[in-house]
Amino acid sequence: MNGSRKLYVKSFGCQMNVYDSQRMADTLAPKGYDETASIEDADLVILNTCHIREKAAEKVYSELGRVRRLKEAAAAEGRRLVVAVAGCVAQAEGAEIIRRSPAVDLVFGPQSYHRLPDLLARAERGGKAVDTEFPIDAKFDHLAVPSIAATRARGVAAYVTVQEGCDKFCTFCVVPYTRGAEMSRPVSKIVAEVERLAGAGVREVTLIGQNVNAYHGEGPDGRTWSLARLLEHVAQLSGIERLRYTTSHPCDMNDDLIAAHRDLPKVMPQLHLPVQSGSDRVLAAMNRRHTRADYLATVDRLREVCPDLALTSDFIVGFPGETEDDFAATLSLVDEVGYSGAFSFKYSPRPGTPGADMKQVEERIKSNRLARLQQAIDENQAAFNRRCLGRTLDVLFERPGRHRGQLVGRSPYLQPVQVEAPASFIGEIAEVSITEIASNSMFGVLARAPARQPAFLGAGA
Ligand code: SAH
Ligand code: SF4
Ligand code: F3S
Repeated sequence: MNGSRKLYVKSFGCQMNVYDSQRMADTLAPKGYDETASIEDADLVILNTCHIREKAAEKVYSELGRVRRLKEAAAAEGRRLVVAVAGCVAQAEGAEIIRRSPAVDLVFGPQSYHRLPDLLARAERGGKAVDTEFPIDAKFDHLAVPSIAATRARGVAAYVTVQEGCDKFCTFCVVPYTRGAEMSRPVSKIVAEVERLAGAGVREVTLIGQNVNAYHGEGPDGRTWSLARLLEHVAQLSGIERLRYTTSHPCDMNDDLIAAHRDLPKVMPQLHLPVQSGSDRVLAAMNRRHTRADYLATVDRLREVCPDLALTSDFIVGFPGETEDDFAATLSLVDEVGYSGAFSFKYSPRPGTPGADMKQVEERIKSNRLARLQQAIDENQAAFNRRCLGRTLDVLFERPGRHRGQLVGRSPYLQPVQVEAPASFIGEIAEVSITEIASNSMFGVLARAPARQPAFLGAGA
């Protein structure tokens, strides 16, 4: 049944929203909705939103201004444009969104998207609907299976949600409120999804969860499996050549998982391990449940088994009570660890979280610290990239590059690499000599043909 109607989904925020948006598209495909990349053609617009910082949450309202004008234009042509707000802003603000933006027809939270066809039927009859329950029937039990063509179109590297929600309650964070309590999907469901992806040509899978390393899902033997056990199992599935997982909490980085970086060649030497701050005082105020020394000890254990591990992190500057000394501890931690990259944010007080009620750091100070931190991170990243110059790295080619005849792939460390290579190499892994480092990407030449290619046609080393 092919689409008479067009769906436009826009994702904000984390990888889980990207994953959820794809699942929404999969759910609506059998109902006759085809995805479009152009919002002007849409009969249904879904904004899958993020509530993590004030700026992220405000984006949805500016986007809704544009959508309202499109809706009016459609109405003038006698067409109905249905507007839905999904994700974490929907969960946090519920019906308030419709009060503030009457063009919105549907509001539903991250746990409700499998009920989208019903909600939509109501909206198509002209009604409004809000669904921000945390239903008992897990949404994962209702996932629609996408066609092979749809999976292929999404590329050779895919996300698979294995865990959702968070029980940690860091004092700055909305996630435990918008995503609910931690839950893990059963191993059998994850394996079926990965096998299906592999069958459609996916070569790299990133297992995702708000606290992915707290994974504790039901195994086929009826026991509770850890993330390490899950990785070991998924690594045996044919077709999947690379595994990653994100985002990990430092407290859940246990021995088995660290050992996976030594024992499982398919687990890439790369890890996002957010620390937020280098100061024990701030870590305690944030309720991160570990010290600077604990974090550094974890990094040491990881580097013992995987010396070339590329580590990335998230940082928050200007959390309530952060002094210049606390901030200096963050800067020194950055240099002590030596990151391959990191995200850094000014603290944004979020309604309903403990941090919002604490005495705030001045905006001017936050901006100053952010700039200094970003400089330190950039220097770390440049140093990491420089160490790759002249090395030969395995690159998984993902898509056409900026220029004709170029492809972009990822190194094991997740760096984008631009290489001259034929389009038929997409989905293949080849050895690439790194010849040049630019600010945001690296360039290389083919050193050896992809393992699955019969002949080596490329130029280079
Ligand atoms: N589950 C992940 C992070 C989820 S949010 C973890 O535990 O690390 C992604 C990042 O957004 C966080 O790591 C944090 O650095 C940042 N963040 C979360 N809440 C924030 C806030 N209120 N203000 C600024 N940054 C925030
Ligand atoms: Fe938010 Fe902390 Fe949970 Fe991460 S661990 S999602 S930062 S509450
Ligand atoms: Fe944002 Fe929700 Fe993800 S708040 S970061 S979309 S879990």
